[in-house]
Amino acid sequence: MADDTTDTKSSNQMWGGRFASGPDAIMEEINASIGFDKKLFAQDIRGSIAHATMLAHQGIISAEDKDKIVHGLNTILSEIESGNFEFSRQLEDIHMNVEARLATLIGPAAGRLHTARSRNDQVALDFRLWVKEELQKTEQMLTGLIAAFLDRAEEHAESVMPGFTHLQTAQPVTFGHHCMAYVEMFGRDRARVRHAIEHLDESPIGAAALAGTGYPIDRHMTAKALGFREPTRNSIDTVSDRDFAIEFLSIAAIAGMHLSRLAEEIVIWSTPQFGFVRLSDAFSTGSSIMPQKKNPDAAELVRAKTGRINGSLVALLTIMKGLPLAYSKDMQEDKEQVFDAAESLELAIAAMTGMVRDMTVNTARMKAAAGSGYSTATDLADWLVREAALPFRDAHHVTGRAVALAESKGCDLAELPLSDLQAIHAAITDKVYDVLTVEASVASRKSFGGTAPSEVRKQIAFWRARN
Ligand code: ARG
Repeated sequence: MADDTTDTKSSNQMWGGRFASGPDAIMEEINASIGFDKKLFAQDIRGSIAHATMLAHQGIISAEDKDKIVHGLNTILSEIESGNFEFSRQLEDIHMNVEARLATLIGPAAGRLHTARSRNDQVALDFRLWVKEELQKTEQMLTGLIAAFLDRAEEHAESVMPGFTHLQTAQPVTFGHHCMAYVEMFGRDRARVRHAIEHLDESPIGAAALAGTGYPIDRHMTAKALGFREPTRNSIDTVSDRDFAIEFLSIAAIAGMHLSRLAEEIVIWSTPQFGFVRLSDAFSTGSSIMPQKKNPDAAELVRAKTGRINGSLVALLTIMKGLPLAYSKDMQEDKEQVFDAAESLELAIAAMTGMVRDMTVNTARMKAAAGSGYSTATDLADWLVREAALPFRDAHHVTGRAVALAESKGCDLAELPLSDLQAIHAAITDKVYDVLTVEASVASRKSFGGTAPSEVRKQIAFWRARN
């Protein structure tokens, strides 16, 4: 700093007053976070401008010094944005890199910026602002993914496909209904994101090192200036917790899990054996040796990114679990986990939105598959309950015998002659054939949230109104 008497080469110019010598090279390497926390430059500068403005408003620093500080900080912002800023590892982190540059630009007034604050509340602020913006971005991206699914669901409200349990053909459903299952999942993910934004919407600045400050600061003023609902209420908690970051990672892990299941389905559906969907050229790759291949790499990578996100969540939980209150340097390791997970999540949502919008759905293949595997057996049992007044357990047994017979004849249930069915149960009439088609099966499932096209359309309307 301009009026600093310490030798910046030997000890740290920010906190080196009581240090006779500078750090060992390894100390510098393990200590420095500038390599990754430079990502927080915009938040750091915004926070400092709000803090300096408040300090001047409260008469803690002069208006002239505040003006110099704000002007200097804006200069630094454009320097960094235009790539004309030299980050120094000696200066450890983004906070001290900015402050040191401010001193070069405006002289001694720069030394007044750090009045009534600490890097502990400063980093808590910068990181919260960053996570809040990332959550807002995630909310928008999820809205885009939901919109893509709503369009496909509308297009395929009547397209029949096999529904699976244990990945064995279970009952016919519509592809629209299957798409809407993902709308529900990503809708809940988005609700979790909105909750998380509410939870973290408190301003940390002014908690200072851990105990608050004796200066007459106005934390409500800085909270408002930085777009927070209110200031945090406990200075120790403020500088010591990172639950907002862990909450982001938890949400990312849950959304990642949903994205990964979708990815897995796309991998299965796009095999020649299934042939339910064909991925666009834009979202698949070829093989360098096998010319016939079209690989679902994007889906596979979404599946893999989820593993990374889970790793980040576990890492940060583990970093935090043993720390006594308040701040410990361990917490510096929070950022890379969150940055990496955020990048993975953004990519995964974007890739999935593209794949869902672009993929071609083979409705003929889906319909053929829907009818195989005796998928309408439950409809036969339900018919016996309804039309022949059998208890469901008996109807289940009768239907089982019909399935066994069809299996031994190598045909579908609907292909068994009436005489065969009547030999199994005398009450069966030719009306039963009406419920054995896949279309009749799905159309009959009109219970709330069921797969009937009429129900699927209701759920699409519900979500369209909320998206
Ligand atoms: N770079 C540090 C971090 O990310 C900033 C806070 C440092 N505070 C301290 N007391 N050393 O956590």
